Amino acid sequence: MAQLWGGRFTGSINELAWTFNASITFDQRFLEVDVRGSKAHATMLAKQGIISEEEKDAIICGLDAILSDVRDGKLEITDKYEDIHSFLEANLIDRIGDAGKKVHTGRSRNDQVALDMRLYCRGEVENTANLLEELLKCLSSIMKDNLETYMPGFTHLQKAQPVTLAHHLGAYFEMFKRDLLRMKDIYKRMNYCPLGAGALAGTTYPLDRDYVAELLDFEGPTLNSMDSVSDRDYLIEYMSALSTIMMHLSRLSEEIIIWNSNEYRFVEIDDAYSTGSSIMPQKKNPDIAELVRGKTGRVYGDLMSLLTTMKGIPLAYNKDMQEDKEAAFDAMDTVRNCLTLFTDMLATLKFNKDNMEKSATKGFTNATDAADYLVNKGMPFRDAHSVIGRLVLACIDKGCAIDDLSLSELKEFSELFDEDIFDAISLKTCVEKRLTVGAPSPDVMKKVIEANDEFLSSFSFK
Ligand code: ARG
Repeated sequence: MAQLWGGRFTGSINELAWTFNASITFDQRFLEVDVRGSKAHATMLAKQGIISEEEKDAIICGLDAILSDVRDGKLEITDKYEDIHSFLEANLIDRIGDAGKKVHTGRSRNDQVALDMRLYCRGEVENTANLLEELLKCLSSIMKDNLETYMPGFTHLQKAQPVTLAHHLGAYFEMFKRDLLRMKDIYKRMNYCPLGAGALAGTTYPLDRDYVAELLDFEGPTLNSMDSVSDRDYLIEYMSALSTIMMHLSRLSEEIIIWNSNEYRFVEIDDAYSTGSSIMPQKKNPDIAELVRGKTGRVYGDLMSLLTTMKGIPLAYNKDMQEDKEAAFDAMDTVRNCLTLFTDMLATLKFNKDNMEKSATKGFTNATDAADYLVNKGMPFRDAHSVIGRLVLACIDKGCAIDDLSLSELKEFSELFDEDIFDAISLKTCVEKRLTVGAPSPDVMKKVIEANDEFLSSFSFK
């Protein structure tokens, strides 16, 4: 056990308490960001005359050497150390001696870990944004190819009105676009540097916090030292946005699972993203989509865990906050994997356009249009609704669609029916006539896709 705080103690810590308290097994992923933060801190200490230029240079060289030794496998991060901060400081002192003992001047692990989490999180938020952009490009390209791929639109999972595949996926484009914009927004709000807050009350050393913030590409320093060490709002915002991404991925996964079922056969998932059964030779299961749906609960759980951890913590730092890491890392890792795999699965998905179109012609998806036809011939909508309702009932009885009836059969329900009814309720007309903003008509969708392209090409994260 190599701890930073032995001086005040006479006894040694209980072994289980040591392990229980330690965070090195999971905070070692802060290695790079911790080194980056310490280098900036040392640079500022030297600029302020708190340490010498030589000491600063020794600290920077020492930290870089530790980093490359760990990367090359020459130095192992072990649980002999409490956390990554202790590991780095102890190794630095081993290598450069007294100068290493000065790196923690004017700093506490409380502001150090707050900085590490922000630096790490900043990179992850940017990465999530990149993955969302890839997903949006994939959706957009499928949409472009399917402006006239008709399919049933559903409400209550009952066929409702015809739409197109472009329109259906366009709904998900909007969802993931909002997710992407959320990343930009979260990044902006979290981009302030907590280093210099000390344990909780700043420090008496003449630190230049603006300078450190600038060195680390932050917008500026955080403005209250107690808040700086105990704020995890940015993590909660990020995990909440990650949960929303998972909710969207889960909904589309659910659709893909349904579309891939024997009953629908709207899509065929590529072999690369399916698995078989150990007993039933015929099976090809949509496991990736199911796992994405399943892992959504896990990410929600991570968010709940952090929210619950934070709710009872008095100012300022309390050790409870160490619990932020495993939950946050789990959410980040899960969403990273889900977004990557999901986009690949979507890009290789085969759409069975014939089945989609056939399905759209059944289930009376043109019933609303038949009622609208009568309205156009002068019948009030409520009456038209009732006429078509009776007509649908008769069709269900006969086992046919509205357009399978002859004109004379139709006239038994209303004299207003004419030869033009068949064109008015064809699948093509039903979709093409839906011309309001946001509706499925290919003419409208083309404009939406153009706007999407413009959004994607002009989007900048920072
Ligand atoms: N491992 C700790 C954490 O993640 C680092 C901060 C420790 N601070 C302290 N006062 N014990 O929160």
